[in-house]
Amino acid sequence: MTDFAVRASGLTKSFRTYKKRPGFRGALRDLWSRTHEDTVAANGVSFDIPRGELVGFLGPNGAGKTTTLKMLSGLLYPTSGHAEVLGYTPWKRQSEFKRKFALVMGQKNQLWWDLPAAESLELNRVIYGISKSDAAATIRELSEHLDVAHKLHVMVRELSLGERMKFELIAALLHRPEILFLDEPTIGLDVISQHKVRDFLKQYPRHTGTTTILTSHYMQDIEALCERVIIIDRGRIQFDGPLRQIVDRFSSKKIIEVTPSDPAVDSAIFGEGATREGGIVRISVARDGVASRCRHIFESVEVADINVHEVPIEEVIRQVFSETPR
Ligand SMILES: Nc1ncnc2c1ncn2[C@@H]1O[C@H](COP(=O)(O)OP(=O)(O)O)[C@@H](O)[C@H]1O
Ligand SMILES: [Mg+2]
Repeated sequence: MTDFAVRASGLTKSFRTYKKRPGFRGALRDLWSRTHEDTVAANGVSFDIPRGELVGFLGPNGAGKTTTLKMLSGLLYPTSGHAEVLGYTPWKRQSEFKRKFALVMGQKNQLWWDLPAAESLELNRVIYGISKSDAAATIRELSEHLDVAHKLHVMVRELSLGERMKFELIAALLHRPEILFLDEPTIGLDVISQHKVRDFLKQYPRHTGTTTILTSHYMQDIEALCERVIIIDRGRIQFDGPLRQIVDRFSSKKIIEVTPSDPAVDSAIFGEGATREGGIVRISVARDGVASRCRHIFESVEVADINVHEVPIEEVIRQVFSETPR
């Protein structure tokens, strides 16, 4: 029997926002009857995640990712639906549950701005009742791994965004949570920090068996880290399965890349969908038309090199989101 870390079923959250009518008369009218709008941020979200798995949670802005993660960490009550995380109902907020999960949000910080990271970590140590020696060992290991050991005593406000995010991660992992929710942990980071954090995330969950749900705008993160992805759009799950399957399912095209022996040859020869970049001609072709198009190319031009590629995942995902009607 599979041991599930997360079981979400029909999780739904709607937010009611009130609108203000303009002007004094509007304000008076608002006193009697306020107009409101309901946003269904999560709409019947269901998925199961086995213990130890790392899952990518994807979707455009406003799709409902953060809302879902907040429900799973007990920060928000759902309007309806159920969830079990490590056997707990998150929004009951039992203290044993709080010790077992961590939520890291790329756009929010938990560290104290006017203290060195070491002191924020010490505070977390006390809150979670971790022994000094355990905390010291974890901090040493993680800060070396993330390459910030020499920044432990620098005021957080003086750290770079990347360094801050690394300490956010260390603070979140200090109590060795069994499940980790990472909401855009690499957003806005410079390329080198992004790499470092990605490398860390490649090893840490696997090494420790920590179940991880990761949202990211960067497809490089997802491609490097996640075999399974869950795609959400306008509050509804659109896909749940292996990343590679997205390409099979949603991409009807492949890319042929041809290097003609004569770089000056007329692009029109390659047929519809051909673009040129330097000496290489790229042709976007329906999957079932690849063989016949290649044959046509070989018959009409002298070819120095030819390759057939899948459409990059990033592009496929963009396509998935742009095709679903808004
Ligand atoms: N506290 C809130 N009050 C009202 N609307 C909200 C609130 N939080 C989120 N929303 C709305 O819910 C939808 C989903 O938001 P969110 O879960 O943050 O999406 P994502 O993280 O995928 O970008 C958006 O339309 C957003 O504006
Ligand atoms: Mg979000």
